[in-house]
Amino acid sequence: MTTIAIIVAAGSGTRAGGGLPKQYQQIGGQPVLCHTLNAFMSHDGIDDIIVVISPEHRDIYDQAIKGYPLREPAIGGETRQQSVFNGLQAIKGDNPTNVLIHDAARPFVSDDIINNVITALNDHECAIPGIAVVDTISEVQDGKVTAHLNRDNLRAVQTPQGFVFDAIFAAHQKAADEGNTSATDDSALISPVVVVAGESKNVKLTTAQDIEKADQQMKQLNLADLPDIRVGQGFDVHAFEPGDHVILCGIKIPFTAKLKGHSDADVAMHALTDAILGALGEGDIGKHFPPSDAQWKGAASEIFLNGAIDLILKRNGLLVHSDITIICEAPKLRPHIDDMRQKLADIMGCKIDRVSIKATTSEQLGFTGRGEGIAAMATATVRLPV
Ligand code: CTP
Ligand code: MG
Repeated sequence: MTTIAIIVAAGSGTRAGGGLPKQYQQIGGQPVLCHTLNAFMSHDGIDDIIVVISPEHRDIYDQAIKGYPLREPAIGGETRQQSVFNGLQAIKGDNPTNVLIHDAARPFVSDDIINNVITALNDHECAIPGIAVVDTISEVQDGKVTAHLNRDNLRAVQTPQGFVFDAIFAAHQKAADEGNTSATDDSALISPVVVVAGESKNVKLTTAQDIEKADQQMKQLNLADLPDIRVGQGFDVHAFEPGDHVILCGIKIPFTAKLKGHSDADVAMHALTDAILGALGEGDIGKHFPPSDAQWKGAASEIFLNGAIDLILKRNGLLVHSDITIICEAPKLRPHIDDMRQKLADIMGCKIDRVSIKATTSEQLGFTGRGEGIAAMATATVRLPV
């Protein structure tokens, strides 16, 4: 007995908008499609997977699934129904017993739902997941309610939808022969269909808001897989020299002096870079970017911070939080702090609420108090897999 999953990913994601079709947009650091594939690849009951893609997305698809051991994708059609039929035709030669048809845009599909569908196929030709409807649903025509539907009899239908292969192939063939191409869901082409338990979290990402929310949820799920929490600290000082601006956290701030240094002397970004390296146990900024190396002369310190973030990503970790204190009598930093936080958040690929920047004077004491330079302290909290 062979069960193949068809993942339909040939849509254009019009309602979601964005630079890429929704199935290729990143959530939790991976394209939506990859999360969906992960769920099916890790399931014992699935023997093979075929993705159905649009020919226009070939390059983004290849990029997204790099490293995944997948067969050649099938090419989608104008409607979802046509895309599914193309997928069914592409696997017909494999003679599968059962097929599960799933929307690439449902990345939260769980093992349980896949199990429910597969198990039901032992006794039925078609099984689909459904969930109870919480709102009362009314039929409306010309802005007027024409019927109240009994909520107890309604289910919101999801995917994966499971079928005995020969049965769904015949149903699709018949629909195609009759010129019916617009069924939004495969179970509409066949009966009887049994309903098994779906899950409310198994949503189909449709709007830009859905994708933003899914990104947050995936990041939270990922966090649970990163139990090794590390806190690193960093400290740096740069002296003033004649000039007309300083650069702090990547933001140019007009001033009566500049900071002296081999690179752009962004003392705050250096302290933060060291804090991240500290959390990773990876030495310090001088080890990775030696001042003796001419290539770092005048360099934007963003390069150093990016380098530290890359080290976190190489270890499949995540920067959870960073906190910087900048110590100087002047320039006045408060008006620039939000720009500085946003700049760091952009570089580090996190939300601004995970970046804290504070400024303080040292009450005219010591070298900072005498206005001879700026000091910065930072902590970084990093989570790594064990
Ligand atoms: N799909 C497909 N081929 C099509 C249309 C849709 O393979 N011609 C896929 C989509 O990629 C998605 C699933 O079917 O995974 C559900 O469709 P939908 O949510 O409507 O996605 P899109 O059609 O891409 O989005 P939109 O309707 O907003 O354009
Ligand atoms: Mg659509």
